[in-house]
Amino acid sequence: MSTPKRYLVTSALPYANGLKHIGHLAGAYIPADIYVRYLRAQKRDVVFVCGSDEHGTAIPIQAKKEGSTPQQIIDKYHQALKEDFEALSVSFDIYHRTSEPLHHQTAAEFFTHLHEKGALQTQESEQYYDEASKTFLADRYIKGTCPHCKSDRAYGDQCETCGRTLSPDELINPLSTLSGETPQKKKTTHWYLPLNEHEAFLREWILGEHGKDWRPTVVGQCKSWIEGGLQPRAVTRDLDWGVKLPDAIPGGAGKVLYVWFDAPIGYISATKQWALDHGKDWTPYWKDKETKLVHFIGKDNIVFHCIIFPVMLKLHGYILPDQVPANEFLNLEGDKMSTSRNWKLDMRDYIHDFVKAENGGGQCVDMLRYYLTQIAPETKDSEFTWKGYQDAVNSELVAIFGNFVNRTWVLMHKLCNGKVPHLHPALFDENENALIQEIQGAPARISELIEQYKFREALFEVIDLARKGNQYMQKREPWMLAKKTDTDPTAQQQIDNCLHLCLQLTANLTILINPFLPNTALTLLHMMKVVDRMLDWENAGSLKLLNAGYPLRAPQLLFRKIEDAEVTLQIEKLQKGMTNPIATPASPALPEKNNTATNKPVIQYEDFAKLELRSGIIRKAEKVEKADKLLKLEVELQGEIRTIVSGIAEHYQPSDIIDKQVTVVCNLAPRKMRGIESNGMILMATDRNGKLHFVHPEHPIEPGSLIS
Ligand code: MF3
Ligand code: ZN
Repeated sequence: MSTPKRYLVTSALPYANGLKHIGHLAGAYIPADIYVRYLRAQKRDVVFVCGSDEHGTAIPIQAKKEGSTPQQIIDKYHQALKEDFEALSVSFDIYHRTSEPLHHQTAAEFFTHLHEKGALQTQESEQYYDEASKTFLADRYIKGTCPHCKSDRAYGDQCETCGRTLSPDELINPLSTLSGETPQKKKTTHWYLPLNEHEAFLREWILGEHGKDWRPTVVGQCKSWIEGGLQPRAVTRDLDWGVKLPDAIPGGAGKVLYVWFDAPIGYISATKQWALDHGKDWTPYWKDKETKLVHFIGKDNIVFHCIIFPVMLKLHGYILPDQVPANEFLNLEGDKMSTSRNWKLDMRDYIHDFVKAENGGGQCVDMLRYYLTQIAPETKDSEFTWKGYQDAVNSELVAIFGNFVNRTWVLMHKLCNGKVPHLHPALFDENENALIQEIQGAPARISELIEQYKFREALFEVIDLARKGNQYMQKREPWMLAKKTDTDPTAQQQIDNCLHLCLQLTANLTILINPFLPNTALTLLHMMKVVDRMLDWENAGSLKLLNAGYPLRAPQLLFRKIEDAEVTLQIEKLQKGMTNPIATPASPALPEKNNTATNKPVIQYEDFAKLELRSGIIRKAEKVEKADKLLKLEVELQGEIRTIVSGIAEHYQPSDIIDKQVTVVCNLAPRKMRGIESNGMILMATDRNGKLHFVHPEHPIEPGSLIS
């Protein structure tokens, strides 16, 4: 295929109703960023757009939860999301928002265009209406009994207990969550996109044209949608939060666009804003067939990006996506990630605990990007574990990539006066030739994988090249050659050859790793004292990136090891549902996430009875050295004093908790944290601000008393 004239790359617009977790990051943001950084290094014309999705019922519902207003919610989370993406080096050309007037205009114009073309239909139907609040009820605002599992935690769109998709009419005993009253049916008219009229086009375009080059899960989902029978789909809602229907549309008063109609148009308005900001023309990006449009999303967004939005685009005369690399889901420590159960790792938590916790947090950003790419759920669901993260960092980034670069630098300073040594090709044997071939062959392989959206394989190839560098050095052993320089006249020349090639390899690795780990690439550029123009992809494969005689800087640590204690602490945090509060001077309300009812699976009494819970009294407490969060406690139980390490140091001073009564899980397997063996766990309650509190009996009782 010939090279496209330009690229427009999008990442799903996240709802501005909360923080996003690493599953989102691995699914729609990191892969897109790798792709875009690669295209930029190829000097292609590319624009990478994203922004906050600020409409839909998710926003007013979150506002209600936080005792705040929709506007405050979107302002707070838009800011937080923007910061988090930046902190993790996701390099959008623009991070826009759908509450901007430019977006409202663009979306309203889009609707009007389709309406005037006669591409939409109107239809009257009966929907639930709340007399007390004088409003039609969105599906989420109707609560009732699930017809399947009979749970009363069912909503008009989904049952929270059994997870089945519902429609409001299926609910037994529907009630309005706004007033608590029984809603009445009332007539209303809506605009529909008749997907059924576009079946032939969709079949041909998805199953025919893209049946082979789109991922099988993407094609599969589309296929089952099409075969299930395409229905007209409502694109308006009776709501007061969203893009209002233009005044010129008769009967449009009081109605807004359905959020899934306006949100993808957000890609277009973001492109317009980017063009305005840079004195460019946005139209070719959406109208010229020579533009390659690529949507990075999670699998729950497939039908919207592959069926509904393309029909809208086609009707308006815009180009269609060329690829929709949708990712599967990322699980966390053996369970699905979930916001309501607080089983997740938010981007912000990682940033707080790793990136902000040290200077030059760039290496921790890259360590996360590395692991998330290595486990990217490209073809099936995959899993994040802290142990897996530790292994990936310690045994690949540190032990292979970091080690190769570090050895090269240390030896170059020691054996070659801190300069790029000269090359003596006459002394080459098959080892040099093989390494040179590897260096020359890698870029094309990696390019091809990236252009096929196989980022985990591409990254593997980069690390593999570093591994080959290590093997080569191991074979040559310049430190041994250094002992022979008096007796062997070619020893120094062999050393020079080895380090010259290892330095050229490092320069190549810098170019190749840059799309994946951009902070690492910058550190390497600094060590080599070269400008970022070297990162142009066309330089990859060259053996002339560094000139002989050029002096280089001292080595810098590229990655740091992850300690066992960090793994333990993170797992404990996850199990306790601890998250880092989000700093928001503008709006005082904080998420209630710690207090929302959990949805953990039902357990039997026998499961509970496995716990030995006892009341204890803290007798001694001290800070654990070099651990901001840990206190070492001596807790009195029945005639015994136990050592327990607890992650409460940010909440309590040691002197304030002496003689406090606490609840102890006594039969938890011992664990070492920062070299101290911890024998049990203290139960803590988390308030809405994320602050921890001890859990104790109503009145003081004997230490060691059983709790059951
Ligand atoms: N906000 C949606 C979600 O988080 C994604 C919207 S993508 C867009 O699932 F195309 F509509 F913008
Ligand atoms: Zn149910």
